[in-house]
Amino acid sequence: MTRRSLLLSQQEINQGVARLAAEIARDYRGKNPLLIGVLKGSFIFLSDLVRRLDFPLEVEFLQLSSYGSGTQSSGRVRVLGRLGQPVKGREVVVVEDIVDTGITIAFLMDYLHRRHPRSLKLCALLDKPERRQVPVKIDYLGFTVPDRFVVGYGLDYNEQFRHLPEVWALEEE
Ligand code: PRP
Repeated sequence: MTRRSLLLSQQEINQGVARLAAEIARDYRGKNPLLIGVLKGSFIFLSDLVRRLDFPLEVEFLQLSSYGSGTQSSGRVRVLGRLGQPVKGREVVVVEDIVDTGITIAFLMDYLHRRHPRSLKLCALLDKPERRQVPVKIDYLGFTVPDRFVVGYGLDYNEQFRHLPEVWALEEE
């Protein structure tokens, strides 16, 4: 899998992130929201997103254990580590790079919901709805992508390609 084709250019991503930032600013200005990035994939997206938000907010990260390569569908997800602060009573926005089967984010939203945030919303850069196994409500969505293996802008294949500034689809050779 070395050939790749461009799915989203830097300009398209910039425009998408700007649109999402405007939507989040409209809803959260003055509320000191807690943005929780899901590691590792969201690290670039979250970094670009928060730099477009010109009001007080806080940032935390969570890492989740991977449940396998996608061939496993056990749905077992675990949270690695802890948040630096409680979410109870907070206006929480989870920032994710991609929703695929939905298993990861469904688990995390439930995990956070049980900690009684004041509100809980999901912002995802990419959605791959053809692969969904569990329903997920994405409150702030960047782009819908086809059922292809996507890398770049934080997303990896075997830990490679995260640094690419665009989003690419890897092609089977
Ligand atoms: C990816 C992505 C999401 C999840 C989506 O994470 O960042 O968290 O998979 O898949 P799902 O909707 O089928 O659950 P990955 O486990 O590859 O870890 P990473 O973020 O460290 O790359």
